[in-house]
Amino acid sequence: MAMATIRIAIALYFWLFTLSIIHNCIICSGNNSNVISCIETERQALVSLKQDLYDPSNRLASWVGEDCCKWSGIICHTITGHVCKLILRGPPLQYFLSFTELDAHRKTSLGGKISPALLNLKHLHHLDLSNNDFGGNRIPKFLGSLASLRYLNLSQAGFDGMIPHQIGNLTNLCTLDLHGRTRIVNLYFNYFNGYAKNLQWLTHLPSLRYLDLSDVELHHASDWMEVTNSLPSLVVLRLSHCNLSFNSIPPIHHINFSTLAILDLSFNYYYSENTSIPKWVCNIRSLTSLDLRRNYFIGPISEGIQNLTSLMHLDLSWNYFNTSSIPRSLYELSRLEVLNLQGNQLSGTISSDIKNLTSIVSLDLSWNDLEGKLPTVGTQLCKLKEIHLSGNKWNQSISQVLDSFCGCVSDGLEVLDMYSNDLCGRLDRSQIWKFKALTEIYLYSNSISGHIPASLGNVSSLRSVDLSHNHFDGSLPESFGQLTKLEGLYISNNYLEGTISEAHFANTKKLIWLDASDNQLTLDLSPNWIPPFQLGGLSLGSWNLGPQFPIWLRSQEHLTYLDISNIRTDAIVVPSWFWNFSAQLTFLNLSHSHFQGRIPYISKIGNDSLEIDLSYNHFEGQLPCIASKVIGIDLSNNNFSGSISHFLCNKPWELVDLQSLTLANNQLSGQLPDCWSKWLNLRIINLSSNKFSGNIPSSMGSLISLNSLHLRNNNLSGEFPMSLQNCTELFALDIGENNLRGSIPGWIGSRLLKMGIISLRFNEFYGHLPDQLCALSSLQILDVSYNNLSGRIPRCFNNISVMAQTSDYYTYGFSYTFGNYMTFMEELLLVMKGRAGEYNTILGLVKSMDLSSNHLSGHIPSEMTSLSGLISLNLSNNLLVVEIPNQIGEMKALLSLDFSLNLLSGEIP
Ligand SMILES: *[C@@H]1O[C@H](CO)[C@@H](O)[C@H](O)[C@H]1NC(C)=O
Ligand SMILES: *[C@@H]1O[C@H](CO)[C@@H](O)[C@H](O)[C@H]1NC(C)=O
Ligand SMILES: *[C@@H]1O[C@H](CO)[C@@H](O)[C@H](O)[C@H]1NC(C)=O
Ligand SMILES: *[C@@H]1O[C@H](CO)[C@@H](O)[C@H](O)[C@H]1NC(C)=O
Ligand SMILES: *[C@@H]1O[C@H](CO)[C@@H](O)[C@H](O)[C@H]1NC(C)=O
Ligand SMILES: *[C@@H]1O[C@H](CO)[C@@H](O)[C@H](O)[C@H]1NC(C)=O
Ligand SMILES: *[C@@H]1O[C@H](CO)[C@@H](O)[C@H](O)[C@H]1NC(C)=O
Ligand SMILES: *[C@@H]1O[C@H](CO)[C@@H](O)[C@H](O)[C@H]1NC(C)=O
Repeated sequence: MAMATIRIAIALYFWLFTLSIIHNCIICSGNNSNVISCIETERQALVSLKQDLYDPSNRLASWVGEDCCKWSGIICHTITGHVCKLILRGPPLQYFLSFTELDAHRKTSLGGKISPALLNLKHLHHLDLSNNDFGGNRIPKFLGSLASLRYLNLSQAGFDGMIPHQIGNLTNLCTLDLHGRTRIVNLYFNYFNGYAKNLQWLTHLPSLRYLDLSDVELHHASDWMEVTNSLPSLVVLRLSHCNLSFNSIPPIHHINFSTLAILDLSFNYYYSENTSIPKWVCNIRSLTSLDLRRNYFIGPISEGIQNLTSLMHLDLSWNYFNTSSIPRSLYELSRLEVLNLQGNQLSGTISSDIKNLTSIVSLDLSWNDLEGKLPTVGTQLCKLKEIHLSGNKWNQSISQVLDSFCGCVSDGLEVLDMYSNDLCGRLDRSQIWKFKALTEIYLYSNSISGHIPASLGNVSSLRSVDLSHNHFDGSLPESFGQLTKLEGLYISNNYLEGTISEAHFANTKKLIWLDASDNQLTLDLSPNWIPPFQLGGLSLGSWNLGPQFPIWLRSQEHLTYLDISNIRTDAIVVPSWFWNFSAQLTFLNLSHSHFQGRIPYISKIGNDSLEIDLSYNHFEGQLPCIASKVIGIDLSNNNFSGSISHFLCNKPWELVDLQSLTLANNQLSGQLPDCWSKWLNLRIINLSSNKFSGNIPSSMGSLISLNSLHLRNNNLSGEFPMSLQNCTELFALDIGENNLRGSIPGWIGSRLLKMGIISLRFNEFYGHLPDQLCALSSLQILDVSYNNLSGRIPRCFNNISVMAQTSDYYTYGFSYTFGNYMTFMEELLLVMKGRAGEYNTILGLVKSMDLSSNHLSGHIPSEMTSLSGLISLNLSNNLLVVEIPNQIGEMKALLSLDFSLNLLSGEIP
């Protein structure tokens, strides 16, 4: 929050600054109460304007009646009555917005056509149509004839196409803001809002003080520098995310920019130009703010930057600056308040000259390769409120680090951000108690040990504390219960122990996120406890929950994330209210615990999708029905029993979002119902190790997104399912250990081209191994052992290119994340070196072929020896004759080779 405060302070500063610019320009008054009535021709113009606009939320409802000066968004001149300002700005847009949020914004935006009747407002000084949605239309050319305009703001209004040159006719213009909304929708889309081939037209605007063309594509406008340099009054220039080229600028002999204060050239990263900061930038002495974030600037930070002595705000983050230390020239910028060097390749230590930055408020050096000891700055940088040093290699203990800030810095510091730094030492032996103004502290992913100091509980301003992934031991101090402003507490993955009681939360009214998993903590709360907070996220993995399921959870109506997995308490019954208690949940993890009970249904009303992991528990009874918003569910390794018909076939008309269904290792039985056609999003099905019988239903053929199908170890019968021909995305098929019979169809090789894993072991398949299997170039694991296959081994197996390569680790298909939280990892029962085992994490490394225990006859084709990537080949217990091929020595990756129990003869090569 402190970050936010500072940002607001800075934003306010620039805003006031901008406001003063605008006010110098605009003379029409803001008080309409003296005006009697508006001018009729102007009223009619506004009526026409309204008629042509699309206004889904009726924002122009007040545009009725005679006195248009009283209509919303309209300001008339106090004396003349002319409309001088038209402010139709839409509701504010956040910096990052999902497409859904953008859609919602659309519903409150103005759109449609802008009527040329606007030209009848001859005295219009100020036109603001920002934050609307003009649906990709071009900016109307006739705006260039609104000769009185001084302020034109069409930012984030959804305009696209070429910027009309006619805007260059607005010779009185002081402010021109055309910035787009690309950054808002997606920072990394190669997408712009409009374009210009040159900027010559701007040269007619001598009064221009504020120019923002961010998100407008300007890669053809190589005159951008020449033109903006010729604008004599320019104070603010923003060309962020314009696909600008810095190399193709024609040489400029004289840098004017005598009034330029704010220069923003950030996000022009499309050219990988490998250029250093342009020299001319360092000649704009008037600059107070320079933003060169996310470009392709390389090499050292220019020495000339020290000439920008007025700079207060400097952002060079996410470039490729790679000097062996922070250049001394930066330390000469004594007015700097914000310095951001995050995400570069700066190495070496920080010099003690950093003390010269006496105005600094926010310092960000995170994500570089800095190391060594921090200089002692505690008594010099007295204005410092935020320090970001994460992602470096400070070779220090936390006590030494904090010592270097003791003094006025520790008195005033609000944000201490030092995660992922290899810091060691004990926090309880440090001077952390001196940091009385902290609002945020991030120390996660270090090696800090000792107790969590109780003194932190006295820092009443604390909002966010992240100490996770360290070596803290002892208990959580009760003083944390006094942190009335605390919103986030993250202490997971430490060695904390002891009980957490009501006192720990006594006054934490604002707590939203508590992550304390992977410790040895025990929850001890009275059953009637009423928490003072409403959590959004709770993670109590590996806790001891006490004898009862935590009833107080029921009060947490906004919970979106709940992880109570690996619970150390035995036999907790999950009460039935739990299964419909929070409509907001998006992640629920109760896995690897000893939870018991039946699950009637899992309801979900909220809009977002839900991922559920209840695996490895003792849940029993019928499978619950699930809501259509569930996208992943893992109920494996429980005692669920009965048929799955109601689960699959309930409400057959309703489409379901489910992508992953894992029911392995239960007692489920009966036939697999033929109701798969509504489960069109399924990518993962695992029904292994149950008691299913009957055929594989044909509706499985409608699962066109299916990647992974595991039906191993059931009593399924019938032939190889024809319907799978349509599952062309299939990567892993495991139908081993069933009673399937018939021949192995050749279409596998022509239809299922993405197959990586096929396991048919322990069935009754007979006939030949089809030659078409050789077309499966990605096949890594083929197991057809223990069937009744006969005939020869196909000669073409050398076409299976993955098996023929001795290459690395494959990830495609073996693991991926779906939704936001759950990760899918492919797993398979494999027999290697005579031993059967479940393989998962290393499965991507395995290449194996097992044709053992069949009736295969004839030679071992010599082509097989080119499968040099195989680590296991088992041909044992067949009827293969004659010699082992000579080139067998080429199969260098082999760890296991079994030719036993055949009719082989001759020498071992
Ligand atoms: C606008 O004018 C009215 C009437 O003269 C006056 O009462 C009011 O204070 C003025 N408002 C502002 C913001 O100047
Ligand atoms: C233009 O409008 C946007 C969005 O309403 C606003 O954020 C921005 O400050 C305005 N630009 C100027 C120069 O006033
Ligand atoms: C407006 O601009 C266009 C193109 O720049 C020019 O041809 C035209 O003469 C200008 N009109 C006026 C009224 O200045
Ligand atoms: C600098 O500005 C002056 C007028 O403000 C102009 O005449 C001159 O051409 C400009 N120089 C450059 C290099 O654009
Ligand atoms: C950005 O500039 C490069 C270099 O000229 C060009 O190839 C690319 O098409 C431009 N990107 C867009 C989206 O116009
Ligand atoms: C910085 O300013 C000094 C003195 O005005 C000048 O000599 C030097 O060339 C400037 N450096 C750069 C890189 O512009
Ligand atoms: C920092 O300040 C000290 C003392 O005023 C001075 O000697 C030193 O040169 C300065 N360092 C830099 C890099 O400007
Ligand atoms: C495969 O899909 C086609 C077209 O959707 C359909 O006509 C056909 O019956 C399906 N085949 C199988 C075996 O399900």
